[in-house]
Amino acid sequence: MQDAVSEAEYKYAMRRVVSPVAVITARSGTARNGLTATAICSATTEPPTVVVCVNRQARALRLIEESGTFAVNFLSEQQSDLARTFSTHGLEGETRLGSASWTTLKTGVPILASSVSSFDCVLEKSLTHGTHEVLFGRVVAVTSTESNALLYRDGFFRRIAPE
Ligand SMILES: Cc1cc2nc3c(=O)[nH]c(=O)nc-3n(C[C@H](O)[C@H](O)[C@H](O)COP(=O)(O)O)c2cc1C
Repeated sequence: MQDAVSEAEYKYAMRRVVSPVAVITARSGTARNGLTATAICSATTEPPTVVVCVNRQARALRLIEESGTFAVNFLSEQQSDLARTFSTHGLEGETRLGSASWTTLKTGVPILASSVSSFDCVLEKSLTHGTHEVLFGRVVAVTSTESNALLYRDGFFRRIAPE
């Protein structure tokens, strides 16, 4: 087996890559929380499945595991403040959620009303890999708007510019 590159090499190359920014939300009973995330992809269309990678230290992970549900809310270019709130380490869930309007779809997990697209998910399976849990979510409801996506690259939030 080949050795892996260093963490620094990996991070340097990955910082060049542009990603859409989402807030992953979770609810268990009355407890709600979430985190900003870019490690998200569409895994399969049949069945409709998203994959998200969540650090095992993230507070929202316990709520996801308890409830077996989560939501992925892709942020619009007006929502960089939310991206900062949900990535400020250790904030209480209600402090984070208090800064926006939320609704619910099927699972009861908070759905960001004005997101680009939100995916309401049932946790289908999860794998532990290094520092993270890789979560497979079966998408049970969606909502979307015409807003432009918020992007992240090289340490900065960015907007889509026409070619
Ligand atoms: C642009 C950006 C992308 C991030 N992507 C992820 C991610 O994909 N997965 C993850 O676990 N944390 C990610 N984080 C870090 C979490 O948002 C951050 O650690 C958060 O504070 C965790 O929640 P907690 O404080 O409640 O534990 C990202 C942060 C930023 C600013």
